[in-house]
Amino acid sequence: MITTAVVPAAGMGTRMLPATKAVPKELLPIVERPALQLIVDEAVGAGVDHLVIVTSRSKPAIEQYFAPDAAVEESLQRQGRGAVADQLRRYGNDIRVSFAFQDRPLGLGHAVACARDAVGDRPFFVMLPDELMSDSSLLAGLTRVLDDTGVGAVALKRMPRTELSRYGIVSPVGEARVVSGLDALPFVGVVEKPAVDDAPSDLAIIGRYALTPDIFDDLDALTPGSTGELQLTDALAAQAAREPLWGVVSTVGRRDIGSPLGWLQAVVEAAADHDEHGAAFREWLKDEVRRRN
Ligand code: G1P
Repeated sequence: MITTAVVPAAGMGTRMLPATKAVPKELLPIVERPALQLIVDEAVGAGVDHLVIVTSRSKPAIEQYFAPDAAVEESLQRQGRGAVADQLRRYGNDIRVSFAFQDRPLGLGHAVACARDAVGDRPFFVMLPDELMSDSSLLAGLTRVLDDTGVGAVALKRMPRTELSRYGIVSPVGEARVVSGLDALPFVGVVEKPAVDDAPSDLAIIGRYALTPDIFDDLDALTPGSTGELQLTDALAAQAAREPLWGVVSTVGRRDIGSPLGWLQAVVEAAADHDEHGAAFREWLKDEVRRRN
């Protein structure tokens, strides 16, 4: 059972400027819930009880989001909005949140390394908050594969050729197998954002990792690549070269909210499925689409 998840959230969010000039991209709303809350819910659903958020001191709103706010809760109570007050309280109680700070943009590998003390010596998840998953089953599947194999497991998705250079791409060995009821495949290498013609496969890492703590030694041994950043992918490649790691081909719904179009799709999808506003929103959307055709 993995109970700790690291969420790297120190990035500048430049693809969502100017919105992210004052609001961290992780707090942009997906209807009324910040994207980061959806990550928390996914983690809690997979049994996580400790979240380590790697953030930057220039984004204090992230810490503020997790701080209890008695004044807001009381005022909600007075307005007869006790359910919202309860929800805010629950958000704080579901999970212990600690913070690690990455004050220099030295890459994803460096961000994960910053969480070392908070994680300790047990397997942990890394969850990239740019990617939203429709439920917790992918994390649960990664845990099962790590338990079964004793080595790290990452979530994968087959991507069209044109998108391969945006991701870490794995080099699978042998055939996919069923591990704990999931399609899983071992891989011996992984390259970060290869040119299309150099991509070793069409299997891309999609932002969910179940890692063994020895990854921290591999992260410490990294030297910065051409961009000056330390890549998590390079530490995974070092591990996979010693003993194959495992990829789990994801079947859950996924949205990349790091770009305006992806964020918009996530918002529209969440609005269409919304308990309270979904029906009215779908009606409105149908009319709007008709009017524009
Ligand atoms: C990061 C990782 C990459 C992975 C991707 C998934 O890249 O470095 O290996 O495939 O996330 O979203 P980024 O999107 O941060 O550039």
